[in-house]
Amino acid sequence: MKTYRAHQDVSVLNDYLEVPGLGFLAVNAFVLHSAQPVVIDTGLGLPDRTFVADLAEVIDPSDVRWIWLTHPDRDHTGGLFALLDAAPQARVVTTFVGAGMMSTECPLPMDRVYLLNPGQSLDVGDRSLTGFRPPLFDNAATVGIFDRSTGVCFSSDCFGAPMASADLATVDDIAAAPPDELRAAQLLWASVDSPWIHDVDPAKFAETLTPLHEFDPSSVFSTHLPPSHDATTMLLANISGAPAVEPFVGPDQAALEAMLREFEPA
Ligand SMILES: [Fe+2]
Ligand SMILES: [Fe+2]
Repeated sequence: MKTYRAHQDVSVLNDYLEVPGLGFLAVNAFVLHSAQPVVIDTGLGLPDRTFVADLAEVIDPSDVRWIWLTHPDRDHTGGLFALLDAAPQARVVTTFVGAGMMSTECPLPMDRVYLLNPGQSLDVGDRSLTGFRPPLFDNAATVGIFDRSTGVCFSSDCFGAPMASADLATVDDIAAAPPDELRAAQLLWASVDSPWIHDVDPAKFAETLTPLHEFDPSSVFSTHLPPSHDATTMLLANISGAPAVEPFVGPDQAALEAMLREFEPA
């Protein structure tokens, strides 16, 4: 896990996975250093990951007041329960559906849950954070975050892109990626992560980009993309054609067996 300050008020906890055939996918969590500090998502749950120890590089975990789960997919809940233990004052911000999803495996303590829907706001002491539904998402509980006081947006899985190398998945500014490659990778990710996009009226989809155009964040922090600064128009343009791209079809059993045969000794 790589940790660094990407904005005056935002630290990044940057991990990544190699996804066979797709590339290297950043898996980011964040700390918003507001008066009441907010941890946004909690990383992978793989046995060798140490989310709370990594978090301690950027903030004392016991100071954390809010753990905002942008959605309870397993690439974002890895450190959740360890952090709840380490941060006794913290409450988990999620939706009714998100809390319900968590209850199918390891229920959240309900006295530590704060239910927030898109359009609602959370007071974190020195600012108010507004939840919004990103234009692309893979989970019914997804809520992104606008911080209007700083012009920062946390977009959850939206804008993600598998990168060509581990180095690119771990850079501190997406400006390092070639623009054409970035656009192709974002469109691929749109189809992988939000396959419903191919059934959506393109004009209706375009309307869902409007809140982000209007907010025009100076920095966008996606769970699956390196940080983006002063490039929101480009990010939105990149995904605007998502309904029309070739739908992603993953490897099937025959492809898997062919792949495994390559590993067999001659
Ligand atoms: Fe997801
Ligand atoms: Fe994700």
